[in-house]
Amino acid sequence: MSEPQVFTAVEPFRRALDAARAAGGRVGLVPTMGALHAGHESLIARAAAECDLVAVSIFVNPLQFGDPTDLERYPRTMEHDLGVCRRLAVGAVFAPPVVALYPSWPEPPSTVVSVRAEAAGWEGASRPGHFDGVATVVTKLFSIAGRCRAYFGEKDFQQLVVVRRLVADLDLPVEVVGCPTVRDRDGLALSSRNARLSPEDRRAATVLWRALSAASAAAAAGEDRPEALAGLMASVVATEPRATLDYGAAVDEETLRTPPRLERHRPVRLLIAAEVGGVRLIDNAPAALGRRPAERPAMAGATR
Ligand code: PAJ
Repeated sequence: MSEPQVFTAVEPFRRALDAARAAGGRVGLVPTMGALHAGHESLIARAAAECDLVAVSIFVNPLQFGDPTDLERYPRTMEHDLGVCRRLAVGAVFAPPVVALYPSWPEPPSTVVSVRAEAAGWEGASRPGHFDGVATVVTKLFSIAGRCRAYFGEKDFQQLVVVRRLVADLDLPVEVVGCPTVRDRDGLALSSRNARLSPEDRRAATVLWRALSAASAAAAAGEDRPEALAGLMASVVATEPRATLDYGAAVDEETLRTPPRLERHRPVRLLIAAEVGGVRLIDNAPAALGRRPAERPAMAGATR
C-alpha cells in the first residue's frame, strides 16, 4: 500500500504528470465522481496494469447535473475513496473544489464542449445538457493531464462514445480505453445510484439485465430487426411493476443510430434506461446476429 499524492489545484497536478512523463513513464487517467465501487476499481486496476503512474480524478461535476437535488444527493465518500486509491497503488488523486475547475461558478463557464451527433439521442434526449457537462469536464481533465491513456467504463456506453468522438475531433493526445461493465451476481450493473434502491426495488432492478439478456439471445437466435429487439426489452420491463422504461434500443456501436437491420460481422449495442423506485438506471450489452457476443460480463460478486 502506498500513499497517493492528493492534489486540489490544477497546476501542481499538471506538473506531477509532466514529471512522470519526463522520467519516461506512461500516465493512466481514470476520471470519476468518487463513491468508488468495484466498477471504478476495475478501471483503476487496468490502468495500473498498463501504466507507470495512475491518476484518479474525483470530482462531482455540477455542470453535468440537470437536477439540483440529484447533485446534492450524489454520495461524497472521500475517505473511503482515498482508501481504495491507496489499496490500488494510485500515484496521484486529483480532487479539486468546484471553483478550481469553474472559477465563475455558480455561473457556468463561457466555453462549453458540445458533441453534436453522438450526444443527441438516448441519455442526451432524456437529460438535456448532461453530455455538454461531461464533454466539457472531460476535455478540461484531458487538457490538464496531457498525453495519457484514459479509462472509461462501458457501463456508460454513450458517454464512452461521446468521449471517443471529442478526442478524435479535437486531436487530443489521449488514448481512450473502454472497460467492460462490472455487475453484481444477479446481473445488476454496479452504480453508485444502486445504494438509493429499497430492497424490493433492488430486486426489481435486475429487470434491466433480464431485458438485455433476452434481446441479446434473440439476436443470437437470428432476430435481425432492431425494433423487434427494442420491443422485446420493453415487454420484459413491462413484467416488472416497479420499473418504468425510458428507452430500449439496438444501435450501431459507433454512431449510436438504429440500423435498418442487424448484420453479421457488425455488432450492435443494446441500450436500456428505466426508472425503478424513483431511481434512473441505465445499462447496455453487446449483441450480434446469429451468435453470442464474445464479451462476457465481469461479475463483482465472483471476485470479491
Ligand atoms: P462515474 O459515474 O463516477 O464513473 C466513472 C467511470 O467509472 C466511468 O467511466 C464509468 O463508466 C465507470 N463505471 C461506473 N460503473 C461501472 C461499472 N459497473 N463497470 C465498469 N465501469 C463503471 O462517469 C462519470 O463518473 C462522469 O460522467 C465522468 C466521466 C467522471 C465525468 O464527470
